[in-house]
Amino acid sequence: MTNSPHQSAGWQVEQSASEAYEQYLVPPMFAPWADRLIETSDVREGDRVLDVACGTGIVARRVASRVSESGSVVGVDVNEGMLAVAAATTADSHPSVEWRRGDATDLPFSDERFDVVCCQQALQFVDDPVAAVRQMHRVLVPGGRMTSSVWRPLEFQPAYVALADALADHVGDEAGKMMRSPFPDWDGSDLRTLVQDAGFDDVSVTVEIGSVRYPSVEEFVRREAASSPLAEPITALESGVRDELVREVEDALATYRDDDGIVSPMESYVVVADR
Ligand SMILES: C[S@@+](CC[C@H](N)C(=O)[O-])C[C@H]1O[C@@H](n2cnc3c(N)ncnc32)[C@H](O)[C@@H]1O
Repeated sequence: MTNSPHQSAGWQVEQSASEAYEQYLVPPMFAPWADRLIETSDVREGDRVLDVACGTGIVARRVASRVSESGSVVGVDVNEGMLAVAAATTADSHPSVEWRRGDATDLPFSDERFDVVCCQQALQFVDDPVAAVRQMHRVLVPGGRMTSSVWRPLEFQPAYVALADALADHVGDEAGKMMRSPFPDWDGSDLRTLVQDAGFDDVSVTVEIGSVRYPSVEEFVRREAASSPLAEPITALESGVRDELVREVEDALATYRDDDGIVSPMESYVVVADR
């Protein structure tokens, strides 16, 4: 039987990339980092909070319980697919979270509308991060707080060095480049300058170290593929080539294997600033 692009032995991709992101990447990776970011944001009861580039909404939904009914939470993102998953996950949330389609570089909100703005792992994807940070400054009240996290460069993420290299070898340069894209070559001082130039005061940039765990290298590759535009090219590979890809990642991550699968450090900058 010939495998269709969306169905090849053991690598079915039946969900949208947004659903796969929510199912596979949010619980082991984005949820724990969301809790750290929220802790840093010092959100209080009654605060009006904006989650910029909210994706499937993990920061917005976790922050909702902190602001209680007297506060409010809005998540904004350009991607309708991500927002649809976000809305489905919060149908019964109290207080309710409002989901809005909008661009981080032109936020659809009036000046000084929020007490806290959070932005988790998204500035690196925005075409004009300078404009995005200026917009965060504009929509915050004087004295309001902005927190943002951005992964450190690829060299600090061993699992993704291995995956990006193997994708480049077996799928192509574009696939390798895509897997490197979440990890910009920014350092802490680039981020500090970005935020200070937008007019923020008391800017603090810290390096935070976490980890991510998967039950096996094969699952790591499959879940990352399903949650990205790489789903089609990877499922379309002949199974022998895919096996080689997985083997290359397994070899590269041999020292990160344990009885529960694989674990890899992940490092991020966390920026906190006051308007
Ligand atoms: C890696 S995801 C992070 C999502 C979410 N913050 C989280 O922690 O799960 C990056 C998100 O940035 C969004 N994004 C990229 N460019 C954007 C822009 N210019 N304006 C708003 N959202 C944007 C994408 O649609 C995607 O949902």
